[in-house]
Amino acid sequence: MAKLSVRDLNVSGKRVFMRVDYNVPMEEKDGKMVINDTTRIKETLPTLRLLLGNGARLVLAAHLGRPDGKREPSMSLAPVAAKLGEMLGQPVGFLEECVGAKAEAAVAALGNGQALLLENVRYHAEEENNDPVFSAQLARLADVYVNDAFGAAHRAHASTSGVARIVHAWGGPCAAGLLMERELKFLGDELDRPARPFVVILGGAKVSDKIKVIDRLLEKADTILIGGAMAYTFKLAHGGKTGKSLVEKDHTGTALAAEAKAKERKVQFCLPSDTVIADLKDTGKLNKKGRPVFEPINPRVISGDIPDDAEGFDIGPATAQAYAAIIQGAKTILWNGPMGMFEDKRFAEGTNAVAQAVVSATQQHGAKSIIGGGDSVKAINKAGLGDKVTFASTGGGASLEFLEGIPLPGVVCLDDK
Ligand code: 3PG
Repeated sequence: MAKLSVRDLNVSGKRVFMRVDYNVPMEEKDGKMVINDTTRIKETLPTLRLLLGNGARLVLAAHLGRPDGKREPSMSLAPVAAKLGEMLGQPVGFLEECVGAKAEAAVAALGNGQALLLENVRYHAEEENNDPVFSAQLARLADVYVNDAFGAAHRAHASTSGVARIVHAWGGPCAAGLLMERELKFLGDELDRPARPFVVILGGAKVSDKIKVIDRLLEKADTILIGGAMAYTFKLAHGGKTGKSLVEKDHTGTALAAEAKAKERKVQFCLPSDTVIADLKDTGKLNKKGRPVFEPINPRVISGDIPDDAEGFDIGPATAQAYAAIIQGAKTILWNGPMGMFEDKRFAEGTNAVAQAVVSATQQHGAKSIIGGGDSVKAINKAGLGDKVTFASTGGGASLEFLEGIPLPGVVCLDDK
């Protein structure tokens, strides 16, 4: 059922409480926190401009990191408010609190077409507990509730769903923002009725993380291409040797069952035919968990078994070429999860070849390409191709849960049209 849209609202002079996902990557430089990637901020600008243009008094709520209910200065949203003001082209006030008398007074002082950002809602443990008292405190800042935080919509927290329940009980509207609508359209409607052939590319570390998505997409896809470390669990399931590669021994049955279902449904199910492997050199260092850190050395391509002391890091060139050819013929593409350890350029070629093929299918053959969030979006951006696909989700865990078919609390709480 379609959700009420921010476009359907009359917001002039109203206090619009809008949940956004400004959980952006940050790092400390010269004693200051700087934002490394502003994509999530940029993607909310159309909703912000629509609401401000229509005279809303805009109250933005967001989380940053996981401060566990404590005021952690490195997780303050103050730098985000400054960056947002720059990107929006108008000042955005910042409030060091998100509830209470000060917050209520600041919101009451907002003029039509003005915006402010509240401090990190996760400074209060009540946020993640979806505490009804805290939700009611937040709701005191709202006449209307808008959720544009698709990336946090899988969380049943106070600002992502509790406030909506209260605004709704008061008879106030609860609507989806424009970014939320786009996410639901591309990850939902477009994949429910895909133009064919529909090719799904799945990578990432674990079969167990992706099995529900695989299972669901086996109902829809024409072809599934498997890459990333999860391919080694499939290899093991077929009796192959995987050396020191990341495998889930207890999920070989899951892997075989997925292949059997693919066969039954006549879905082409492709596994890598070759692999980029490397030996592991002990660096003598320990990681944060106190485990030895190994450095991959001597990268090379093999087909067949992985030697006992080596590890797989990427799909090989023959696999990349075969996958690219299939992708080129697709009319709908969903990509979730990199093909290898793309952060190291020695192991990025498989992921980059897939990214190039997705872009060329989109740009030259009119395919719709949907990048399902998280690391695959990072990878396509790293390759400089992020703006050449049809849609790149801002969600990580939220995209995965949505693709699995799990109802998202941040969506469920919105009014139906
Ligand atoms: C994300 O970055 O995936 C979202 O902002 C959700 O963050 P969380 O996993 O800390 O809830």
